[in-house]
Amino acid sequence: MAGTPPQTRRLVVLTSGHSRGSNLAAIAAYLSHNQVGIEIGLVVVTRRQAPVVELCQNLGLPSIFISCKNMLEYEAALKRQIRALRPDAIVLAGFMRLLSAEFLNSVQIPVFNIHPALLPQYGGKGMFGMNVHTAVFEAGEKTSGATIHLVNSEYDRGQILAQKEIDISDCRNPQEIAARVLKIEHVLYAPTIVKYLHER
Ligand code: GAR
Repeated sequence: MAGTPPQTRRLVVLTSGHSRGSNLAAIAAYLSHNQVGIEIGLVVVTRRQAPVVELCQNLGLPSIFISCKNMLEYEAALKRQIRALRPDAIVLAGFMRLLSAEFLNSVQIPVFNIHPALLPQYGGKGMFGMNVHTAVFEAGEKTSGATIHLVNSEYDRGQILAQKEIDISDCRNPQEIAARVLKIEHVLYAPTIVKYLHER
C-alpha cells in the first residue's frame, strides 16, 4: 500500500564468553547512522558479567542471558526466542561456539559469521579468536584480513559474502595482527549484512 513504511527487519546477535562486543558496537553504530530499516532486536549473551551486557545497556539494546554450558539447551532456548521474535537473520559477533547443523537447518534464516582471517586456509573448528592470528603469524603470512560468510553445516565454510585483505608484514606478533584485522572487521561486517538482506 502506498505510504506504508517498509517493515523494519530484525537481527538477533549472538555473543559468547568474554566477547568485548566491538563488532556488536560497530554494527549498532552503522545501523543507527544509516537508517537502513534493520535493527538489532535482541542480543544473546552467555555470561552474565560479559562486557557486552553493559554495552547493550549503554546502547539501549535488548539482551538476554542464555547459558551455553549445554549447547543443546542453549539451542533449544534460542529457538524459543526466535519463534517469538521472528528475526530476519542471526548475526554471530564474538561468538566462539559451534551451532549444530540441526539448529542451522531448523532456523531457516541466514546466519552470518565474521572470521578474522582469509578463509578457507585458516577456517574450521578451533580457529576462533586469537588462534587464527597465531596460526597466520606462525605461517609467516604477509597478509591477513576479514571474511564475512554465511554459516552452513560446515560452519566456517559457508558461502563467502565479503573479504578484505590487509598487509600485516610489519606485525611483530599475533596481537598486532588481531588489532589490525579488527579495524577491517568493523567496517566490513554491517554493510555486508545490510547488502545481503536488501538483495534477498
Ligand atoms: C573478532 O575478531 C571476530 O572476528 C572473532 O572474534 C573477535 C570478536 O571480537 N570471531 C571468531 O573468531 C569467530 N569465528 P568482538 O567480541 O570484539 O566483536
